[in-house]
Amino acid sequence: MKQLSKSYQEGNKRRLVLNELELSVAEGQMYVLLGRSGSGKSTMLNLLSGIDQPDTGQVIIDGTDISKMNEKDRTKYRRDNIGFVFQSFNLISTLTVFENVVLPLSLKGDNPAESKQKAQFFLDQVGLGDRGGSYPDRLSGGEQQRVAIARALAHEPKFILADEPTGNLDYKTGSLVLNMLSDLIRDNSRTMIIATHDREMAQIADQVLELREGSLHTMNASLNVAKLSEQAQAINETESTKAFRA
Ligand SMILES: Nc1ncnc2c1ncn2[C@@H]1O[C@H](COP(=O)(O)OP(=O)(O)OP(=O)(O)O)[C@@H](O)[C@H]1O
Ligand SMILES: [Mg+2]
Repeated sequence: MKQLSKSYQEGNKRRLVLNELELSVAEGQMYVLLGRSGSGKSTMLNLLSGIDQPDTGQVIIDGTDISKMNEKDRTKYRRDNIGFVFQSFNLISTLTVFENVVLPLSLKGDNPAESKQKAQFFLDQVGLGDRGGSYPDRLSGGEQQRVAIARALAHEPKFILADEPTGNLDYKTGSLVLNMLSDLIRDNSRTMIIATHDREMAQIADQVLELREGSLHTMNASLNVAKLSEQAQAINETESTKAFRA
């Protein structure tokens, strides 16, 4: 990501959401992107995946500047190289769970028998191996989220972008899914960026990033965890002081 900027027009005012962001990511690493609601996390992931285009700046993946590609090439590039777990899942409601996971593999032109095997494998991994025949609207929010994760992983992309992948999961399921993602990244030298406002997730990151007022800050993961627990303690203390006063 080089000098990446994005703004949105609101009435006659232009609002700068991302201001000349710079970032290099390394293979086999897990990045957690923190930031408050509205700080621009989804916007940044959409630029990285080529779903959206920056005002200025570049997104270079393996030497290719995807922000310079035309719409058709970007779509193809994304399909072949990027797994995206959307904040709103984006499952196709007229396809079954199993078909949703197989679809990206079919679009890529993979062998049908292998594709089916892979789809089943990843559905098993997220604990939904027996729900392949269901339609998405029959599933709970957390189950749909897990299907979206299985779909992003099934075509084994080099680069996985996940927008609040555990936002709808209970603590235990969320932890299981995160551990699975983190093992997968490390075992297969993939790169992953997870956007979240859950600061606890910083613990699984090799590198923690934070969006604040349009700028991207990088933090050392271990230092950050120490700082976070300090912050958590401080919050607890204020809460207990408040309780005491009350
Ligand atoms: N298509 C759009 N048109 C206008 N403004 C937009 C558009 N998309 C995003 N924004 C604005 O850009 C800002 C960043 O939005 P974004 O969705 O990236 O935030 P976020 O960090 O992902 O928030 P959340 O944690 O709530 O998902 C917000 O103020 C939002 O209103
Ligand atoms: Mg978002």
